[in-house]
Amino acid sequence: MCGIVGYIGNKKANPILIDGLLALEYRGYDSAGIALIDNGKINVFKEKGRVKNISLNNNMDTATGNVGIAHTRWATHGKPSQENAHPHMDNSKMFAVVHNGIIENYSELREFLKKKGYHFDSETDTEVIPNLIHYYYQDCNNFLEAFNRTLNDLKGSYAILVISPLFEGVYVAKMASPLVIGEGNNENFIASDIPAILSYTKEFYFLNDGEIGYITKQEIKFYNNKLEKIVNEKKVIEWDKNAADKDGFDDYMLKEIYEQPRAIKETLAGRVVLNNSCNFPDLEIDKNYLEKIKRVYIVACGTAMHAGLVGKKAIEQLCNITTIVDVASEFRYNKPIIDDETLCIFISQSGETADTIAALKLAKSNNAKTIAISNVLGSSITREADYVVYTHAGPEIAVASTKAYVSQVATIIGMAIYFAEILDTLDKKEIEKIKTELLDLPSKIDKVLDNTKEIIDIAKNITNETNAFYIGRGNDYNIALEGSLKLKEISYIHSEAYPAGELKHGPIALIENDTYVIGIITNSDICEKTLSNLEEVKTRGAKIVLISNVDIVNEDMIIVNIPQINSILAPIVAIIPLQLLAYYIAKNKGLDVDKPRNLAKSVTVE
Ligand code: G6P
Repeated sequence: MCGIVGYIGNKKANPILIDGLLALEYRGYDSAGIALIDNGKINVFKEKGRVKNISLNNNMDTATGNVGIAHTRWATHGKPSQENAHPHMDNSKMFAVVHNGIIENYSELREFLKKKGYHFDSETDTEVIPNLIHYYYQDCNNFLEAFNRTLNDLKGSYAILVISPLFEGVYVAKMASPLVIGEGNNENFIASDIPAILSYTKEFYFLNDGEIGYITKQEIKFYNNKLEKIVNEKKVIEWDKNAADKDGFDDYMLKEIYEQPRAIKETLAGRVVLNNSCNFPDLEIDKNYLEKIKRVYIVACGTAMHAGLVGKKAIEQLCNITTIVDVASEFRYNKPIIDDETLCIFISQSGETADTIAALKLAKSNNAKTIAISNVLGSSITREADYVVYTHAGPEIAVASTKAYVSQVATIIGMAIYFAEILDTLDKKEIEKIKTELLDLPSKIDKVLDNTKEIIDIAKNITNETNAFYIGRGNDYNIALEGSLKLKEISYIHSEAYPAGELKHGPIALIENDTYVIGIITNSDICEKTLSNLEEVKTRGAKIVLISNVDIVNEDMIIVNIPQINSILAPIVAIIPLQLLAYYIAKNKGLDVDKPRNLAKSVTVE
């Protein structure tokens, strides 16, 4: 969704801002813009469509100025258009603002300002912000105070950057939308996402909700909402700059698929160790507490929710604790049974998903202990939860999640083993066996990645299909759900995932001659049953592709063999051919795999 970049220093701001916006393209957007202070005046350049349009349609090379703010907009209030693109200015063109989030009371504020003589050039909620600042500034003649009074009037979520010829630096504020400040040498950077400015610095400050920052090229100051000066801690990000580049791959998605063995190694490093207890130092969870737990909730959205489904199997089978998985946007309305005997785990790659954060707040208010599993240091969810476990997958840029998924699954399985050790619910030998297999996952994924020809060939056959089904039982159904989501997200082929045994209760009516059904079998105990379900669709004309690690000979099916592994861990291996299948189908169709239509990487609205 919307992205923000800001710069102040001695260099020309424009190329740095464009660079940052390009790095944020993956978030999904439909217009973009830049505002620069040049010779005591604000210059705004904005266009509908891609970031490159800003340079194409304006004489950007001549644009000078060492202070600037920039934005990519994902339309919420008002259609994608040049007028609605950010930055927005007040009527007197004294203040320029970029904003992420939603101002829920904007109609009320707009009416108020109209009565005071202000007019509006866009349909956005954002335009009230620069005008309110102007309104209060007229009254107090002090920007910080005018900004704070404006913020006090806003209801909703925001990350805001303001520039003006009235002051040298950039003012920033946030409420429930991400914002980071990167420290440079005689220059400073601001962004909604770390990758936007990762090539300039690894030293970051995180703004908390309700705080204001003032950033000049030499100073980074913070204030609380009483305008008292406060000190925020600086954090060093370990992400490698190259981790946010394509590194010779055609697309981020393919690069991230190939990064999965390394991502899992990083996730497990120091946490899961053979012949030793697991180590999750950030989780202050002891035997007394775990024995008291009646149920675990795992709450997340999209792919992260699918990781949660695999986590449920691990926690139930290894720790013997009832575990419920819920979609974050439904959680609050399902009246979940939460109290101090409930453990709630929230999974979010970005750590900024609005529905997941709202669900976490509900769990906390009902006295549950909360754990956030996230990939992004300092993200909103990590600051809300009682405990945080980072996945350490490195930056994930492609909208369709791949390496974040496997690292989320590895994290939650690692945690389940850790809980099982504390609770003593599993035989020591069993624990060592599963740990050995967990640590062996990277080499098994490598084997799948070394042999992609078969998948590339199958992808050619499915490219022109309009429908597909993914089926499996138990954890294989969880793999089917994630495989099907990958196909939908990037290839726009309608696909459904079904528990294999459920197909005959309705969806089998949709099977026609040559409909593709992708079966998954990673557990020999249920192999025969799933095979029977595949036979049922085969006799009705379906073409079968089977992803399997069980020895099966069947000439009527295209069988993709994957390495054998414990069924609790199987999703981490079995998802790889399905990610590749979706990827190659989308490539064959000539689609933009990294930025699929209508989707956003970080969904900051409910
Ligand atoms: C969006 C993305 C999905 C992602 C989901 C949850 O819908 O397109 O790929 O799985 O958000 O994101 P999160 O950052 O919370 O894991």
